[in-house]
Amino acid sequence: MGKKRKRDRGSIHPRNKYSDNPPDFGALASLYPSFQSYVFYSREGKPRIDWKDFNATRELTRVLLLHDHSITWWIPDGQLCPTVPNRSNYIHWIEDLLSSDIIPNSHEGNNVITGFDIGTGANCIYPLLGASLLGWNFVGTDVTDVALEWAEKNVNNNPQISNLIEIRKVDFEEQLTNKNKNTSKDYHGPPILSGVVKIGERFDFCMCNPPFFETMEEAGLNPNTSCGGTLAEMVCPGGEQAFISRIIEDSVQLKDSFRWYTSMVGKKSNLKSLMAKLREVGVSVVKSTEFVQGQTCRWGVAWSFVPPTKKIISSHVASKNVLTFMLEGIQRKFSAYHVLQFVESFFQENGASCKLNDALFHIDVHVAMSDCKEILKNDSEDLKDIDLHFRVTVFEQIPGTLLVKGSLKPGENSKPGLLSSIFQKLEDALRKQFCNHA
Ligand SMILES: C[S@@+](CC[C@H](N)C(=O)[O-])C[C@H]1O[C@@H](n2cnc3c(N)ncnc32)[C@H](O)[C@@H]1O
Repeated sequence: MGKKRKRDRGSIHPRNKYSDNPPDFGALASLYPSFQSYVFYSREGKPRIDWKDFNATRELTRVLLLHDHSITWWIPDGQLCPTVPNRSNYIHWIEDLLSSDIIPNSHEGNNVITGFDIGTGANCIYPLLGASLLGWNFVGTDVTDVALEWAEKNVNNNPQISNLIEIRKVDFEEQLTNKNKNTSKDYHGPPILSGVVKIGERFDFCMCNPPFFETMEEAGLNPNTSCGGTLAEMVCPGGEQAFISRIIEDSVQLKDSFRWYTSMVGKKSNLKSLMAKLREVGVSVVKSTEFVQGQTCRWGVAWSFVPPTKKIISSHVASKNVLTFMLEGIQRKFSAYHVLQFVESFFQENGASCKLNDALFHIDVHVAMSDCKEILKNDSEDLKDIDLHFRVTVFEQIPGTLLVKGSLKPGENSKPGLLSSIFQKLEDALRKQFCNHA
């Protein structure tokens, strides 16, 4: 993660430790011999690791946690390996929510922050980061024996913060006996919040990196990274949509037991329907954010039942200067790079000028009036004095799914709806070219 990449993407949270100092693999290798064997040098002399090698990514996480956070950490082979800079972004977003005045700062003058990590995993990454960076207390839950055993080990190996973190087993029996059984049609797994949160407990927030996928085939294996991840970690019948829907239903029961309910969301289409569901159930506030993480993009959603301090007109106003769409069902033989090249030729063939950056997977496009007419097949006299600069970025989401994002150059104004019309044409062309069910 070079400096240039970080600046261009503008993604990392400004308080993230790595925002100005991305991990320096060369320096880490010279300090930690166990990491050294995974570092190699590019022709330009830049230190790199093989992101497809699970052992290399695990060793990187281990040394980063040790070097930058004084955390002693390990996970067994094959368990989901977190990337520290990415996971820190979610923690800092929650920190922003808690310190904002969107909802009143309650807890009767008590400054102790307590969070609830749903599905903490063997890596226990969120409690470890939250406790070490910010001194937060945590309950971290999970369902699998291996996750519970290793989360517990990771906590106990860090006595400086171990008293801040409780690892809690989710009781499967609860699923059968829970009197308050929820009515979700799609989720049939173990309890998530209701039945796990104890009577009278209060939390400032919950967070969750849910099992994203509906099937192991869908989870596939991203050929560009090897973050591990077992069936239990990655897959839930109904996917994240069902899992987060259950969190929403539980939140309706638990209401003010949490000041903020939050979750990561992996698919933009799910974000939309989850936000709609939240409005239906009558939450008082909904917020969302985007986490750009290297070559992937995820979202965060947060909601509360606490009455807001001030009237929020719209919690998430989509900027008309930024547009996105998902390309799902992409044939296996095509990569993000093919899509990027197609975007370039799509605009060039219509007369626009393009500058492709294949390291950052984006293209800067400049279209003039005549180009717009070509693209839109539109002779409208409205298109006068058009001179539009925008960037198209392609993000890998999950195997077979890409996110395409278009953003107007900062400060650029366009005729209302023009970028969106151009984007619609691009979307149609991409679907026709790459998707199984165009
Ligand atoms: C994608 S992993 C996230 C692990 C870790 N939080 C991270 O971000 O790397 C999802 C985790 O949720 C756990 N899980 C699945 N169903 C659960 C439930 N009902 N309650 C608590 N954890 C659950 C899985 O065992 C797995 O460890």
